[in-house]
Amino acid sequence: MAGNKFFNRNIISIRDFTVDDFTYLFDLTDKIQTLSSSERGEIAKGLILGYVFYEYSTRTRLSFESAMASIGGRSLGISDIDSSSIMKGESYADTVKTISLYSDVVLIRHPSDGSSRYASEISDKPVINGGSGSEEHPTQAMLDIYTIFKEKKKINGLTVGIIGDLKYGRTVYSLIYALSLYDVNIHLVSPATLKIRNESIYDISNKVKMFNHTELTDDLLKKLDVIYVTRIQKERFPDLQEYKKIQGLYTIDESILKRSKSDVSILHPLPRVDEISTSIDNTMNAVYFKQASYGKELRAALLSALLHEEPF
Ligand code: NCD
Repeated sequence: MAGNKFFNRNIISIRDFTVDDFTYLFDLTDKIQTLSSSERGEIAKGLILGYVFYEYSTRTRLSFESAMASIGGRSLGISDIDSSSIMKGESYADTVKTISLYSDVVLIRHPSDGSSRYASEISDKPVINGGSGSEEHPTQAMLDIYTIFKEKKKINGLTVGIIGDLKYGRTVYSLIYALSLYDVNIHLVSPATLKIRNESIYDISNKVKMFNHTELTDDLLKKLDVIYVTRIQKERFPDLQEYKKIQGLYTIDESILKRSKSDVSILHPLPRVDEISTSIDNTMNAVYFKQASYGKELRAALLSALLHEEPF
């Protein structure tokens, strides 16, 4: 497809992209799913995705690996830093440099904000941010917006609730930055201790209508077209006692669904702990596993566009 702005590009912050970029990527994601597996398997033949995960991951790493395999490429990397030379004291810079020697595109997850930007300065291959501290997770936001678009057939005009750990949840920031490019209302729901970091959103707060809440009231539930639920980021909590106080505060269950719009879509980047009751998993409203499966398709499209000027 013509107009590829992703070719050879670093995917560090969702802020580096426009609505046109998203539209291009979503069209490409739709299109890649119409290719036969042999056509698809030609796209990245002979190319390698290299990764290093300094933090746990299930979906991000596996969906990228599955995506790369589906377009005929291969993946190699470090998902358990205990088995790598990082344990011998090798620096982050040397580790990134080494991965980039052996691969065509580099995927990184690291607990520090700014870690992916720094990696992109070291690597001579494009770097994808697979999660940098509590700062950003851009490919998650791309697939979140794609999922909303698939469910609602539009983004403009929607009212989106984002619930849970808004302070430390990196997917929240990438999602808000992406949504701020559209005409949406955003309702942020969290305990006071986990409120959004205002210093991270001050520049978009006049571009998008955002409202803060501490409770998921019936009035609010009736307005929401999408409820994006997040896990409390226990590992980023300075004090476990504080974590225990707020654990399980806004569990999404049948009673919440009954009080919501009948067609509300429930999203979650996953993993969930106790924020969504498994009893609603089989309802039409539960979109989180579909969202995870879109992750593979969107990442396959993204890798194709990163690796080739004319993706397929
Ligand atoms: C998220 C992450 O790592 O930020 N997971 C994911 O990539 N889908 C969300 C989380 O860990 O809560």
